[in-house]
Amino acid sequence: MTRRLCGGSLVIATHNAGKLKEISALLDPYGIECISAGSLGLPEPPETGTTFVQNALIKARAAAETSGLVALADDSGLSVKALDGRPGVYTADWAERQHFEGEPGRDWFMAMGKVEGLIQQVGPDTDRTAVFHSVLALAWPDGEHAVYEGQCSGALTWPPRGTMGFGYDPIFVPQGSDLTFGQVDVKEKQKVDHRADAFAKLAADQFGS
Ligand code: IMP
Repeated sequence: MTRRLCGGSLVIATHNAGKLKEISALLDPYGIECISAGSLGLPEPPETGTTFVQNALIKARAAAETSGLVALADDSGLSVKALDGRPGVYTADWAERQHFEGEPGRDWFMAMGKVEGLIQQVGPDTDRTAVFHSVLALAWPDGEHAVYEGQCSGALTWPPRGTMGFGYDPIFVPQGSDLTFGQVDVKEKQKVDHRADAFAKLAADQFGS
């Protein structure tokens, strides 16, 4: 049986403001105090894994070890069918402005353009199906851990639409909708998205009766 959270504080092991906002909203009903890794000054460990599970565990374990508190990390990304699942675990890396001298940081518009350019290179009637993946990992300071996986299927659209959300939200249209994740607020997004899907499994395991 999985070890359970028993109230108290939880370090959210992300430096991504969009993820922090969404994870805090999901945890809100459970009366757990969320502390961000940024506010504790925790470093971001290199994501050297080749799967979402490996990277989520790297982040959760590093935060639990350095803070001495239970930590929750998300590793997520977009898998595009026509691109054989890319960018996948490298979704955030595709936004790195490594080519622009003196400008560290991430450019999501550039990343969305890169995905679109590659899809168009495949052909005019390319399958635009894509899946968002999320793995949530809980890690305790003594090394114990638990992992929960979620998905959301949809299709990519171009040009980007909407200013809400983060990352690739403006080009992702979830199955059954006409709106991108960039055009809906966080409550609507969390009815269907990959992080909420993983969180539902976490909540059933951790808070269910
Ligand atoms: P990582 O988990 O830190 O490796 O980053 C995953 C990247 O995937 C994020 O930085 C976003 O660009 C993208 N991503 C993950 N989840 C979402 C989402 O819900 N909406 C939009 N982009 C997302």
